[in-house]
Amino acid sequence: MKEFTSKELSSFNGKDGNPVYIAFEGKIYDVSKSPLWSSGSHMKRHPSGKDLIGEISAAPHGQEVLERYPQVGILKKGAPEELKHLPPILQNLVQRFPMARRHPHPMIVHFPIAFLMGASLFVLLHLLSQNFSFEIVSFYLLILGAISSPFAMATGLFTWWVNYRLKLTLFVKRKIQLSILLLIFEIILIFWRSFSIKISNPIYLIIMLLLPPIVALLGYYGGQMTFPSEG
Ligand code: HEM
Ligand code: HEM
Repeated sequence: MKEFTSKELSSFNGKDGNPVYIAFEGKIYDVSKSPLWSSGSHMKRHPSGKDLIGEISAAPHGQEVLERYPQVGILKKGAPEELKHLPPILQNLVQRFPMARRHPHPMIVHFPIAFLMGASLFVLLHLLSQNFSFEIVSFYLLILGAISSPFAMATGLFTWWVNYRLKLTLFVKRKIQLSILLLIFEIILIFWRSFSIKISNPIYLIIMLLLPPIVALLGYYGGQMTFPSEG
């Protein structure tokens, strides 16, 4: 049976009249005749021309569907093409733990998003009710947001390196700018609140109320990368 390297396999992606091949557990299948793969990708998510072993767990079917199509070759062992830009240690890590490849960032980002939106909400509640305990909750949420956001940023840089090869797209540029702004605002707010009790200062309040739109935009740009709008 013909052996393919991951580079050779990558051209069998249904583009320019090429057949549509997919690899699974070292076997390569020709799915060109499937209406569900005719565009070269499956369910607008799964590209052909590569090993899809890490992706089938999310499918509503098992690997038995592959048996409907002929096996046309086997995949040579070695790091897949899309991981070749990484140092060998990272190639091994993401091959051993496929989850490490895309999941850490979306898992961590929930924390700064929730904590910082909460901080802003509780400062508003304090303003409306004049209940000082709401303000204290807001401050603690702000601290938790400030602790968790560097982790979101670090995992963001990681996924950008692994999955986007550090390519500076417009969305990434905006995300880096907004992340720096967020860090600056968090530091200002925490120092201000720690060394002064005049939290009714309008500038403090304005910065607090800017946190939700900033994290929402960070998430929006991220979502546009993970799930590009389908026209
Ligand atoms: C979120 C992920 C996925 C979704 C929602 C999805 C959905 C579906 C659905 C609804 C079908 C038709 C079911 C049937 O005919 O019994 C199908 C068929 C199929 N899927 Fe998936 N799938 C996913 C991932 C994958 C992956 C990762 C692979 C490859 C490893 C794959 C390979 C196939 C094949 C070969 C068929 C048979 C196509 C045909 O009979 O023409 N799917 N998929
Ligand atoms: C507190 C800061 C950040 C927040 C709240 C945030 C939020 C998000 C969210 C919600 C997503 C969508 C995740 C998904 O559903 O898969 C995302 C994706 C993404 N973010 Fe961030 N992000 C932050 C910082 C960064 C930074 C500093 C970078 C580095 C350049 C970055 C790069 C990315 C990339 C490349 C994706 C797409 C991931 C993929 O397609 O798997 N993010 N971000």
